[in-house]
Amino acid sequence: MNKGIAIYPGSFDPPTNGHLDLMERGSKIFEELVVAILRNSEKSPMFSVAERLEMLRALTGHLKNIRIDTFDGLMVEYAKSMDAVCILRGIRAISDYEYELQMALMNRKLEPTLETVFMMPADKYSYVSSRLVREVAQAGGPVKGLVPEMVEQKLREKLEPAYRFHDKMHEVPPGIPGGKEKKRKKRA
Ligand code: PNS
Repeated sequence: MNKGIAIYPGSFDPPTNGHLDLMERGSKIFEELVVAILRNSEKSPMFSVAERLEMLRALTGHLKNIRIDTFDGLMVEYAKSMDAVCILRGIRAISDYEYELQMALMNRKLEPTLETVFMMPADKYSYVSSRLVREVAQAGGPVKGLVPEMVEQKLREKLEPAYRFHDKMHEVPPGIPGGKEKKRKKRA
C-alpha cells in the first residue's frame, strides 16, 4: 500500500461496474482513495450530483479507505486542497489514451508535484462507459452486468416507462415461430 491520498476524479453519470472495479483496485494500492465527482461536468446530467454521491457512497461502503466527495473548478486545485499525492484514472482501450495523456500532461503542467496513475479495469468492462450505459438505457436496452444492481434500479426508476420493456427484450413475442404461443391443433 502506498502512503498518501489519491484522487479518482470523474463524472460517474452513472457509476458503472468498470468504475467500481477500478475503485477496488485503487483501494488496495493507496492509503486513501477519494472518489471525486465533478459538480459542473454536464449541463444536463442524467443523475444529480446528490444522486451520484448517494449511489457511490452505498456502493463503496465495504471499502473502508474510500471516501466520496464532490469538487468544482480545477481538479489539481482540489487535489492539492486534499493533500493528495496522486490522481487515479482508468484506461480501457487505446482510444482512451490520447485524451488521458493530454489531461495528465495538462494537469502536470498546472501542478508538477501531482502524478497521474493509470489503471486498467477488468477486460470484461473494457467497452463499458457511462455514456453508452445512458444511451442503451434511454433506448430501453438492457444494462444488466454493466452497472451495479442499485444503479440499474435507479436507471429503471428514472427512465420508466421506456426502460420497462428491456426485461422482455430477449423473449420471442407470441406469434413468431419459437414463441411462447401455444401451438393450436390442426383442425381435422
Ligand atoms: O469521467 P470523466 O468525465 O472522464 O472525468 C473528467 C474529469 C472530471 C476528470 C475532468 O473533466 C476534470 O478533471 N475536470 C475538472 C476541470 C479541470 O481540472 N480541467 C482540466 C483537466 S486537464
